[in-house]
Amino acid sequence: MNQNYIFLIIALVSFLVILWFVKNRKFQTTDSVSDAYDTWTSDRILEKLWGEHIHLGYYHDPSKIGDFREAKATFVHELVKWSGLDKLPRGSRVLDVGCGIGGSSRILAEHYGFNVIGITISAEQVKRARELTKSSLTCTFQQMDAMNLEFKDGEFDGIWSVEAGPHMPDKQKYADEMLRVLRPGGYLGVADWNSRDLTKKAPNLIEKMVLKQLLEQWAHPSFSSINSFQKNLSMSSFVGSQVETDDWTRETLPSWWESIFEGVRRPKVFLSLGLSSLFKSFREIPTILLMNWAFGNGLMQFGVFRCRG
Ligand SMILES: C[S@@+](CC[C@H](N)C(=O)[O-])C[C@H]1O[C@@H](n2cnc3c(N)ncnc32)[C@H](O)[C@@H]1O
Repeated sequence: MNQNYIFLIIALVSFLVILWFVKNRKFQTTDSVSDAYDTWTSDRILEKLWGEHIHLGYYHDPSKIGDFREAKATFVHELVKWSGLDKLPRGSRVLDVGCGIGGSSRILAEHYGFNVIGITISAEQVKRARELTKSSLTCTFQQMDAMNLEFKDGEFDGIWSVEAGPHMPDKQKYADEMLRVLRPGGYLGVADWNSRDLTKKAPNLIEKMVLKQLLEQWAHPSFSSINSFQKNLSMSSFVGSQVETDDWTRETLPSWWESIFEGVRRPKVFLSLGLSSLFKSFREIPTILLMNWAFGNGLMQFGVFRCRG
């Protein structure tokens, strides 16, 4: 069957399923975020389909999609290079803010020799991250709120945060806290899902509806624009350099289709986890398709941010 028809069928079925048993994961407090990630972690669906990284992949040639998991590892190395974290010597202390189940943290420890602490709001993620981490790796995990980091000023040589920002109800506090715990001269690298600058071009009705879904389906209080988060970082009293940004939408865009493909490539996952996992996965497809549309049409942008402490 033609691939386009397969996608159409997947989209139609998933829209029906979502209409059928949708339960909202609208952001209420940070507890709603930890509840959502506790469930996404304990049911193992995301991990079995997408691996240990809950972020987009980086494609040097976006017309060629390949291995989603390899693209995610590539993403980590590209952000390390771009943000300058690779200039830090082995043994440097790096904080991974919103670490998921530790995919990036383990690469930072294993390939760059960093001493990494990963923090996440989800207790289940901490548990799973610890299970997945070999005792030989210099990498530990704690449950903590990114907006209230339990570390002293300047404790870290590097700060890393990938796709955690949209969950933060107070973006300024998120920026301030990361820079507070970064030592003067240390390196910060952040990657995020951003909306375009809606103050410059207001969203039309369809875009408003899409943004509402993207916020409410995955426990996001709000999206920053690249400009506004750059301002949040620049306004911190601990920032030591100009904040630079880039837009990696083009390089990361294939990830949305790839994340659906992974389900088609790995049907055994649904057999091993039971039929309910198939329905749960279908529930995510409309949001993934809307993300693909929003990033592909300029409503959303994949922003990366770097600066020194
Ligand atoms: C999309 S996942 C990204 C995970 C990880 N950075 C990765 O790339 O695999 C978002 C992460 O942010 C974490 N998070 C959300 N809100 C948080 C908060 N207030 N404090 C700490 N972590 C938070 C979630 O628990 C989750 O681990």
